[in-house]
Amino acid sequence: MNKEFFIKTFGCQMNKNDSSIITKMLQDNDYECAPDPKNADIFIINTCSVREHAEQRALGYISSLKNWRTKQGRILAVVGCMAKRLADDIATRFPFVDLILGPDSYRKINGYLNEIYLKNTKIIETSFSGETYCGIYPKRIGVSDFVSIMRGCNNFCSYCIVPYVRGKARSRSIDDIQEEVENLVNNRVKDITLLGQNVNEYLYKEIDFAGLLNRVAQIPGLFRLRFLTSHPKDLNDAIIHAVKMNKNICEWFHLPLQSGNNRILELMNRRYTKEEYFKLIKRIRKEISDATITTDVIVGFSTETEEEFMETMSVMEEIGFDNAYMYRYSPRKGTKAYEYKSLSEQVIKSRLEKLIAFQGEIIIEKAKEMIGKKYEVLFESKAKNGATRGKTRGNKDVIVEQEICPGEVREVIIKEVRGRTPIGQATF
Ligand code: SAM
Ligand code: SF4
Ligand code: F3S
Repeated sequence: MNKEFFIKTFGCQMNKNDSSIITKMLQDNDYECAPDPKNADIFIINTCSVREHAEQRALGYISSLKNWRTKQGRILAVVGCMAKRLADDIATRFPFVDLILGPDSYRKINGYLNEIYLKNTKIIETSFSGETYCGIYPKRIGVSDFVSIMRGCNNFCSYCIVPYVRGKARSRSIDDIQEEVENLVNNRVKDITLLGQNVNEYLYKEIDFAGLLNRVAQIPGLFRLRFLTSHPKDLNDAIIHAVKMNKNICEWFHLPLQSGNNRILELMNRRYTKEEYFKLIKRIRKEISDATITTDVIVGFSTETEEEFMETMSVMEEIGFDNAYMYRYSPRKGTKAYEYKSLSEQVIKSRLEKLIAFQGEIIIEKAKEMIGKKYEVLFESKAKNGATRGKTRGNKDVIVEQEICPGEVREVIIKEVRGRTPIGQATF
């Protein structure tokens, strides 16, 4: 019988994509996905370091597998960003972990597993190698999926651990991206998101991100194309133009604001001002009037005053983001901002609650604006009580109380809003 593996993934889409890469490599070596994680032969935990909380969850998860690992012949692997950052600590604190791999070392996973089986040894490999996982195309089954176009990051925002755990930015070859997208389209994937820490910096042999978008959009049968994440300092007119001109590129921009105050933005090393951010939003809305704009915000960054926080609130009010991911600031050892003085937990918590409630109202207002309008919806999954969940081109979730096959596309008219979710009716 073939050995079975299970992967538990923490963190962002990048990590989810990496777990698919690992899955593909293990399956190519005749390992099989375990239907029940408890009975897996190999347990892999793919970890995140972006905030303290993410690390605590992953550490707790490793700890919970101590008993599982006592059975002979099992292998426990910890991989990903936290594995890179805390390799030695993990090895000391959890001696029952067999394999520790950083984000650039997955290509060697089969060899390492064999070595552990043969020699009953422990392996740690976390070096950077500029890996892009060229030529590895994970198997897909869903309606929507992600394709990584670059890895790493050179921006060094002062709060962020990503450049330290993922290494320098490097772009994947355009032919390789094209081949993976074609593969997905042939497997009936309809909605594809190009992924990178800052996709706007994509550059491969003089082809920039706008060039890549224009080329990928031409792939026959590609129904929807998106991209994630855009750094506001790098989203240029050529990219906006590519979105405008290619019918299958969705008019959705995820542009992390982080703060609405210039002093804090500078302290964060974001390299744009509030005014420049406003100008960018104006440019997008001028070219693409119905663009969806979403964002990330960090609340309670070192030394942020109440007035500076209120400025973030007012920027958010003025822009009216369709959605926002809001995080309390979490100091990360090794980053520049780790040296700055932190605010009290209580202040951060109360600001975050305020912002989440405020943005929640904006989201409901935006959803209500959808009532009576028609949207092209790509259905993705079944919802409760015979309903179906789908997505608009602007990446908004919509529910219809009708049974529609995932993968189908219908025109939907929005009838009401329940909670924050637009509820509609498919018209044909
Ligand atoms: N590369 C993307 C960008 O530039 O926005 C995403 C990076 S990170 C994986 C996703 C979000 O986590 C960031 O946009 C930021 O809001 C948040 N984040 C990063 N470091 C953080 C920290 N130390 N504390 C709180 N939130 C953080
Ligand atoms: Fe982190 Fe900034 Fe790079 Fe995003 S752009 S991954 S926030 S350093
Ligand atoms: Fe993603 Fe977390 Fe790593 S957000 S890049 S998995 S630190």
